[in-house]
Amino acid sequence: MKITVRLIVSLVLAAALVAAVSSYIQVEEEGGRMTHELDVRAAVIADGLQESIRVLLQANSPVRLKRLVDRFGNRERLVGIAVFDSGGANIAVSTGFPPSFLESAGPVWEAMARDEKISAYAAQDGGRKHLYGVPIHIEGRVLGGLLVLHDASYIEARLDEIWQRNFIRLLTNSFFIILITVLVVRWSITGPIARVAQWMRGLRTGRSSQIVSLPRGDILEPLAAEVTLLAKSLAVARAAAEEEARLRVESGSLWTAERLKEHVRQELGGKSLFLVSNREPYMHVRQGGIVECIVPAGGLVTALDPILQACGGVWIAHGSGDSDRETCDIKGRLPVPPDDPHYTLRRVFITKEEEEGYYYGFSNEGLWPLCHITHTRPLFRLQDWVSYQRVNEEFAEVVLEEIADEDNPLVLVQDYHFALLPLLIKSKRPDARVAIFWHIPWPNPEVFGICPWKQEILLGLLGADLIGFHIQFHSNNFLETVDRFLESKINWDQFTVERKGATTAVKPFPISVAFPSPDLALSSTAENRRKEREMVTKMVGMPIQHLAVGVDRIDYTKGIIERFKAVERFLEKHPEYIGQFTFAELGAPSRTHIKRYHDLMAEVEETVDKINWRYHVKDWKPIVFLKAHHGHQTINPFYRMANVCMVTSLHDGMNLVAKEFIASRDDEDGTLILSQFTGASRELQDAIIVNPYDVEEMADAIYTALTMSAAERKDRMQRMRNVVKERNVYRWAGNIVSTLSQVRIPRQTSEPLREEL
Ligand code: G6P
Repeated sequence: MKITVRLIVSLVLAAALVAAVSSYIQVEEEGGRMTHELDVRAAVIADGLQESIRVLLQANSPVRLKRLVDRFGNRERLVGIAVFDSGGANIAVSTGFPPSFLESAGPVWEAMARDEKISAYAAQDGGRKHLYGVPIHIEGRVLGGLLVLHDASYIEARLDEIWQRNFIRLLTNSFFIILITVLVVRWSITGPIARVAQWMRGLRTGRSSQIVSLPRGDILEPLAAEVTLLAKSLAVARAAAEEEARLRVESGSLWTAERLKEHVRQELGGKSLFLVSNREPYMHVRQGGIVECIVPAGGLVTALDPILQACGGVWIAHGSGDSDRETCDIKGRLPVPPDDPHYTLRRVFITKEEEEGYYYGFSNEGLWPLCHITHTRPLFRLQDWVSYQRVNEEFAEVVLEEIADEDNPLVLVQDYHFALLPLLIKSKRPDARVAIFWHIPWPNPEVFGICPWKQEILLGLLGADLIGFHIQFHSNNFLETVDRFLESKINWDQFTVERKGATTAVKPFPISVAFPSPDLALSSTAENRRKEREMVTKMVGMPIQHLAVGVDRIDYTKGIIERFKAVERFLEKHPEYIGQFTFAELGAPSRTHIKRYHDLMAEVEETVDKINWRYHVKDWKPIVFLKAHHGHQTINPFYRMANVCMVTSLHDGMNLVAKEFIASRDDEDGTLILSQFTGASRELQDAIIVNPYDVEEMADAIYTALTMSAAERKDRMQRMRNVVKERNVYRWAGNIVSTLSQVRIPRQTSEPLREEL
């Protein structure tokens, strides 16, 4: 039976049952009420007559009795009145009293016998009658009886009418139930199912233009997320397989997620990867009372998440989200990405004081400005250093716990938050292969030399088998710094440091992004591009002719104010672009607890206001500052719609925004303006390279970018895309893993290393 028929039959049966029960109750109540009314009416008549009947009985006057009952016997609905003697024989009867009720006047006989009032119904002589018998007392003895006979056929009629009315109501209800059920089933079940079936057919047959969105709402809502994920995985897998096949034909040297997975499997012999960083890849935060999972801004997460997704393993990181504790198990573990798990995130929780000293203090007010050299003075406080050491020790304990069951585990430590971790791990587990990748620049020895704990930091780092930087220049700076401050042997031909018999390789590994971008497979349809343009225009809040975009954490190293000043100067030099050129800054607030960052935010907003005030015309303004944490679903449409992307860091280890922009431009259009002080500028030589301190040069770069011929834009973009494609993040990880797995383990020097702690 079809679901619609089943539903209708069940609903109609249920409605009929409810109607029958309620009608029955109503009929019972109404019948009772009407009977009671008749009883009262008969009792009133009987009471009115009793005294007179008693007197006339005593006087033995049947004629007067007859006259009496005749006088009363013609009231409304009253059929008649009869008086009986104590033997049960009638002695006075009103005119028209049905004779059959005289022969079987049960209630009055019973009333005399039991000496109480009796009421009953009987159906004789054309319809139902109500009989009411009353005993008549003379000097305390029952010497007669009175029978009051009412017509009760109207009660039957009334009760029949109730049944009929309710039956008609049931029929009407059933009609509406059937109608509504058919409509609801069609709208909410069969309609959406038909659409989903059609949508899934599109997926199965590979017509990607149909992978727009699963019909949402109504009964399929809970399924939507799961099926969309399934569709996404399918589309990504199909795109990856197609890309694999294409790349196999094109060249054997390109790296993909699949190739990295296979490579890591071979290198590690099936063992897990262990990655440690301060910033976690998935953070749970409460927004408007709802717990949301966000991917934090920053290059480190952008680069490393695709690797762990490809290879699996454990990522150990600081649980810094305000809802992080409630979203993981007691050990701080949870499978991620939450909607499609590929690896384990192990959260480490530290105290507020520790976070203050280790993260805000020593890492971001000490090492960050020390390494970036952007004229923000590093601050070194003893209590920050103490917290930094303690947190490094706490993380070391967690790492040791995670790797306890693995022989020769491979541990990849990330960034300046964990300079001491390599030595702490290696001294307990000499069999582990440990690498640390320094995501930010390394300054020259003179600059680094101002750090009060430079030797401890260098020793901590040299605990690693491999230290990675983005570019050779930073590796050289590091080797020179070690040479200057530690007793050691530097092999400049091999780029290694030997100290107390232990060797550490120091090499550049230019980090990158996933290419092809997994997100692109889903968004390349014309329909999706149209939606993306709509979204961008809505966010910008005005019609767009020429769009330039900047994507940053709001950080003083990113040259954001310099960029805005270049926009101002560009409009000054080329007023024809007023009302035509829009700069959209997608800026994620970052480390705002630190005064320098807090002040910077105010400075950025003030600069935007000043420039917008100077140039705004009607609804148009030159700079749209979208201050928020934006996910890739928001950022990518901006990249794809922009004529120009501006990366103007005053100093940057690599800068992945530049590479993300290029990876997203599968239309081979768009121009990149790139600071010469980024690691990325070494590889992306087809960008318009600028000195961010030179406002004039940057303003001219904007003009050059906007007036560049389509052919040149395409030519440059193609070359830059080839660079990012060949040197993508899978190759970066593959190289680090290969280099690290070639390290001879154990180093003979675990003892001297331990002494250094
Ligand atoms: C830089 C650092 C990363 C850091 C990121 C975001 O890219 O090299 O280690 O995660 O900035 O900064 P945050 O302090 O928010 O983690």
